[in-house]
Parts: sequence; C-alpha cells; structure tokens
Amino acid sequence: MTPEAQLATRSLIVCVGPGGVGKTTFAAALAVAAARSGRRTAVITIDPARRLADALGLDGLDDELRTVPGLPLDAAMLDTKAAYDALIGRIAPDPESREDILGNRVYQSFSRTLARSHAYVAMERLHDVTVHGGYDLVVLDTPPTRSALDILDAPARLVRFLDERVLAAFVGTGERGARAWIRARGTDVAMKLFGAMAGSALMEELGGFFTVFFGLRRGFAERAAVVQAQLAAPTTAFVLVTAPDATHLADAAYLRDGLLERGTPIDAVVFNRAFHAGLDGRPLAQKTPWPDDALSGPGDLEPIRRAARAHRARLVDDNVAFDHAMEAFEEQLPPKTPRIVLPVLDAEPATLEALGALFDQARGR
Ligand SMILES: Nc1ncnc2c1ncn2[C@@H]1O[C@H](COP(=O)(O)OP(=O)(O)OP(=O)(O)O)[C@@H](O)[C@H]1O
Ligand SMILES: [Mg+2]
Repeated sequence: MTPEAQLATRSLIVCVGPGGVGKTTFAAALAVAAARSGRRTAVITIDPARRLADALGLDGLDDELRTVPGLPLDAAMLDTKAAYDALIGRIAPDPESREDILGNRVYQSFSRTLARSHAYVAMERLHDVTVHGGYDLVVLDTPPTRSALDILDAPARLVRFLDERVLAAFVGTGERGARAWIRARGTDVAMKLFGAMAGSALMEELGGFFTVFFGLRRGFAERAAVVQAQLAAPTTAFVLVTAPDATHLADAAYLRDGLLERGTPIDAVVFNRAFHAGLDGRPLAQKTPWPDDALSGPGDLEPIRRAARAHRARLVDDNVAFDHAMEAFEEQLPPKTPRIVLPVLDAEPATLEALGALFDQARGR
C-alpha cells in the first residue's frame, strides 16, 4: 500500500508545514484520493490558492462545506473571521450584550490571545465537522506559520483556562457570582490592593466577563476536551509537509521537533517540489540519457545546445542537493517514517484531474 493510501485509512489527517511548501495542495490531493477510493471525505483548507479553490469547485470561497462535483468530497475554506463572528454570536446572542462584550476590555484581551487565534477557531471548526459531519475522513490544512503547533496546544490551554476551580475562584459557583464576589471582597485588604493596582473599573470588567462567560464554560471545555482526545487518537495522523531547501527545512525541523517533543507521532513526511523529473517521470540524473534527437536539427543550434546542457546540469545538481537535504532531515525522524517525494511540476495543479494525478508522479511510482 502506498503511504498516501495508508494515510487515507485514518479518520483525521492534520497537515503541518512551513509556508508555501504545498500543504494545501497536498491536503486537497489526499482528500481527492481518499474520496476516489470511496471514503466520505471533508477537507478544510486555509486560504487556498485561487486555482486550487477552482479545482475543488470552491469558487465561492467560504466557511461552508461544499460538495465537490462527482466525488464524496466536501471542501471548505476555514475563515477565521467568520468563525470568530459566529463565536461572538454564541457568546452574546442579543445585540445589547454583544455590545457589552465587545466593549469589555477583558474580553478584548481574551479574544486577542485565545478566541481570535487561528488554532482556537480551527479547533472549534474541527469539532463541528468531526462530530456532526459524519465523514469517514477529515483532512485539516494548517496555516503557514510555526504556530501550527498551537492547534495541538489550544485544546489543553483552553481546558486549563476554563478549569472549573480557576474560574470558581473568580466567580463563585453561580451565574451571577462574579459581581457578588467582587462586592463581597471589596473590603478585603488584598482585594483593595489589587483593585488599586488594576483599577476598580478593570475589576468590574473582569467580573463582568466571567459572569457572561461562566454559563458557556462547560460547552467550551467539553468541545476542547473532545478535540484534544481526537488529536491524540490512533486514528489521527500528522503529516509534515516541506520542500527540501534550507529555509523550508529549518522551519520544518522546528515543527518536526515540536511534534516529537509533544509525543505526537509523525505519520508521514512529504517532500514537495523535491525533484526535477526527466521525460520518463523519474528524477533527472547525470546518467539520464538525452533523447536521441533532442539536440540535433538544422541550422546553428550550438548556443541552444549549450544552454540546454547548462540548464540540465543545474536541474541534476538540484536533485543531488535535494537528496542530501532530505536524508539529513530524515536522520532526525523516527526510522521508517513513511515518505512521499513529489516532483517540481511544470504547472500548479489547477484541476481535479491534476490533483488526482499528483501521487502518480511521486518518486518510485
Ligand atoms: N509540486 C509542485 N510543483 C509546482 N507547483 C506547486 C507544487 N505544489 C504546490 N504548488 C503550487 O505552489 C503554490 C503554493 O502551494 P500551496 O498553496 O499548496 O502551499 P501552502 O504550503 O499551502 O502555502 P501557504 O503556507 O501559503 O498556505 C500553489 O500555487 C501551488 O499550486
Ligand atoms: Mg496553504
């Protein structure tokens, strides 16, 4: 079984990697391959290139899952802004409390540090799709930053933040506990000091925030716990996508080490744009023969011959350098980590067919 077929037997695949290496392309190609094999699949992409979106039939890009014509495949673009608005809508169902919350300084800082973070929104979306979607497989693309690891940490961080004991310290146990708590402790020396330092207005806002938030705490915490368990489940696979050049490999190494430190197995490494193929589809090498008539013809072709030889020599050199870089990178991976090595394509995959054909062009096929 090919590594991608192996991956497609899981129920959740998280693709991480440095910026611009082909994460979204890989996620989409894998989802297409899985759907073609009959699995009901969803792919949640982040900011896909226009052509890729078109290939998936997602020209009206948005947060809603849409069915790709002709396949048991749904695709969506994770829109952090839309998901964030929905979150505020959940927290504050009526316009008045919405205004209250948006104006609340504690809420603003909370939303900046957590709710607005991509990882949090991705986590909520993932929960939605995996729990309610009824898919055999969900493929999750991640944003092009080192903070991709946040998706791993977000659930635990949220659960900690929402720990009942921590919140209870602020709000007591009742819905209306926060303000009461602040009033009751108004005479407490420590509270007076804290109030003087933080400002009583801030204390009031802190109470206000937790009061509104308290009732929602359980929902947040439960969803976070579900996602946390899901990410750790053996049915989940993490794929590290990278390109084999120094800059991308340095970022990929950071992610690789971050994943391994967290005890998250890397189920496959994808080296994209990792070789220049010859006419036979195999990596171009020194020994690859020139086609018989490639450099013959009427007229003075010498300048063209020279340019062609120089160009080819550069491609061969690239391939040698890519090989060394991949080997060095893999030395720091657990032995036998499956690898998928994909070529530099002449044109970016812009159709469903091209996406579907991506793995046929992998090295060794
Ligand atoms: N093997 C390849 N050969 C040629 N072009 C490719 C290849 N893989 C991807 N591309 C193209 O490179 C661009 C970047 O790919 P993609 O958007 O998948 O990368 P990404 O890692 O998701 O980027 P970002 O980090 O910005 O989200 C796209 O235009 C895509 O079509
Ligand atoms: Mg992308």
